[in-house]
Amino acid sequence: MNILIILAHPKPGSFNHAIATTVQQALAQAGHTIDLRDLYAEGFDPLYSTAELERGHAVPPQVRKHADLTLNADGIIVVHPNWWAQPPAILTGWLDRVLRAGEAYRFGTNAAGEGIVMGLLKAQAALVLTTSNTPREAELKHYGDPLDNLWKRCVFGFCGVERVERRNFESIILSTPAQREAWLQEAVQQALNLFPPQR
Ligand SMILES: Cc1cc2nc3c(=O)[nH]c(=O)nc-3n(C[C@H](O)[C@H](O)[C@H](O)COP(=O)(O)O)c2cc1C
Repeated sequence: MNILIILAHPKPGSFNHAIATTVQQALAQAGHTIDLRDLYAEGFDPLYSTAELERGHAVPPQVRKHADLTLNADGIIVVHPNWWAQPPAILTGWLDRVLRAGEAYRFGTNAAGEGIVMGLLKAQAALVLTTSNTPREAELKHYGDPLDNLWKRCVFGFCGVERVERRNFESIILSTPAQREAWLQEAVQQALNLFPPQR
């Protein structure tokens, strides 16, 4: 399977990078074709310009490249830290520009003439791996885990991805090296369950 991994963390030595590269290696060993895109490393421009909002505007090459990778992916994995209950801005900008109307989704009508959203992504499975510091119970009690709704319903559900799984690793700041190593293996296992070995 063609699997696209989107990584949004500025620091090369971060645990997020460890997650993305460990999962990348495991899936490649399992026979998948992996494209890992490190948004900070490649300087992805997250700013949606006024001109780009105009109908018929030429799609900038960097955005076209990411849109094509996303449209051609059989599976998508996103790795990012929780920043203010959201992905880092570079990744929300990636969503703005790359998941394009008419390509990733479109609006239409059903048999009853009601307006509906049609998800158009080919990928039928997505995995979102996030990290944070807030303990799980506090996150749920005070904030309701906004990232879960964002990824499962607002983004991948909207774009037609049927199976969306998410795992949050916390608390990073309190974790030991052994805990982080165990989390990496958990991330690999979850990725291999969703995208089974090809040979
Ligand atoms: C700008 C910023 C905002 C953050 N907001 C949150 C937050 O809302 N909730 C939370 O639990 N952690 C928050 N954190 C902590 C990060 O989630 C944490 O540093 C990261 O997951 C650690 O991953 P890493 O080791 O790969 O850097 C924030 C960190 C930064 C820099």
